[in-house]
Amino acid sequence: MSSVLVIDDEAGMRRTLQIALEKEGFEVVSCGRGEDIQRVFAHKPIDIVITDLRMEPMSGLDVLRAVKQRSPGTEVILMTAFGAVDSAVEAMRLGAFDYITKPFLANELVAKVRKALEKKALTTEVQNLRREVQSTYAAESIITASPAMQAVLAQVRQIAPMPLTVLITGETGTGKSLIAHLIHYASRSAAGRLISVNCAAVPEPLLESELFGHEKGAFTGAIYSRKGLFEEAHRGTLLLDEIGSLPANLQSKLLGVLHDRELRRVGSNRVIPVDVRIIAATNSNLEQAVARGTFRQDLYYRLNVARIHLVPLRDRREDIEPCAYSFLAEMSRRRGKCYQFSREAVKLLAAHDYPGNLRELQNAIEWAVAICPGDIIEPTHLPEAMREAIPRGSGTPDPRGTLDRHEHELIARAVIEHHGNLAEAARALGIGRTTLWRKMRDYGIRK
Ligand SMILES: Nc1ncnc2c1ncn2[C@@H]1O[C@H](COP(=O)(O)OP(=O)(O)OP(=O)(O)O)[C@@H](O)[C@H]1O
Ligand SMILES: [Mg+2]
Repeated sequence: MSSVLVIDDEAGMRRTLQIALEKEGFEVVSCGRGEDIQRVFAHKPIDIVITDLRMEPMSGLDVLRAVKQRSPGTEVILMTAFGAVDSAVEAMRLGAFDYITKPFLANELVAKVRKALEKKALTTEVQNLRREVQSTYAAESIITASPAMQAVLAQVRQIAPMPLTVLITGETGTGKSLIAHLIHYASRSAAGRLISVNCAAVPEPLLESELFGHEKGAFTGAIYSRKGLFEEAHRGTLLLDEIGSLPANLQSKLLGVLHDRELRRVGSNRVIPVDVRIIAATNSNLEQAVARGTFRQDLYYRLNVARIHLVPLRDRREDIEPCAYSFLAEMSRRRGKCYQFSREAVKLLAAHDYPGNLRELQNAIEWAVAICPGDIIEPTHLPEAMREAIPRGSGTPDPRGTLDRHEHELIARAVIEHHGNLAEAARALGIGRTTLWRKMRDYGIRK
């Protein structure tokens, strides 16, 4: 039940208000002097204070100051005599929610009290959400025991405060979105919004107006003008996820916007300035896409200013167990239970290869918890894909696979760096042109 404190030196007024407010279902306390508020607040939390303005020796303004100091979340409504507009204005400046001029009808006051309660509820909700978001994306939310990820976190700390464009690469589920949030919340744009758009998920014809907005009548069905995500992210961060899927015409438009720091909505000539930090993420190989000619090289260079690469979980096996325990602790907290892994379950988790990386690990544990009748997670509770795995004891990656990956990347980079000139690229790599050409064919790299 919401609690209201009424302060007025006239006993008749106090009684009238008390009856009117109690009838509306509020819990009402009243007192005749401002000096009493400390005693009342010590006794119980108060949601709304309704106070007379003209009182001696403590005035309504004094009450307002004291309430805001003691309990900033409490809203204050002042009752003023007709003509005391100056004091009412001063009261609003000091943080009063509203004022009401005497004489008034009980209904008018009740309406104001309800509005004040709504504002209070919203403020509390926003505070809770903000706290939740900040703790989700605080650096502590990243669990890692691997040197590779420690280096990534150091890199995040270094580049977050600078307004650089960042390109985050890594397989699906390696934590690219998580890192993008970390960067945003550690940056100077943290007060602005972080807006994510998945370039692969939005159908191509919609993507342009989604990103850049459109003017009324720009195309059939454009009944209203609409801001694009660039404008929504003004003074904040725009995360362009799956940037490798951006269609060619939008690659050019994006390049122009990044270059000029301004945009035009679809169907408009009006120039709108853009102040947005860009983070691009991709799980595909952009160097290869550039070499193949499906991704603009100049856009690649503009995005690849600061580069963060997240290695797959199977190449940082020391992260598996700490993350598994952390995910299990989170599920335990959510379900109010205390789950544990059996030793065999830990062995299976540690031996798996995780093509879906941390997301796969997280889903596996969520699944296990859902089907586990007790609180010990056994191998039978883990997804089938994991149970089939033959524990490998150590986790040595296949050396040939790793070598191939490195060679592949070296070749793609050389081709890009020499703008597709194979003779120069081959010379830089120290191999013959025919060899280079054959390797490009084997790796599916085409000029
Ligand atoms: N080091 C980590 N510690 C704790 N949780 C992590 C870590 N890395 C990733 N996660 C969690 O794993 C899940 C997958 O991460 P995220 O969504 O950031 O991956 P992604 O690389 O963006 O995937 P996609 O390519 O599919 O977009 C998320 O729930 C994320 O919070
Ligand atoms: Mg993601």
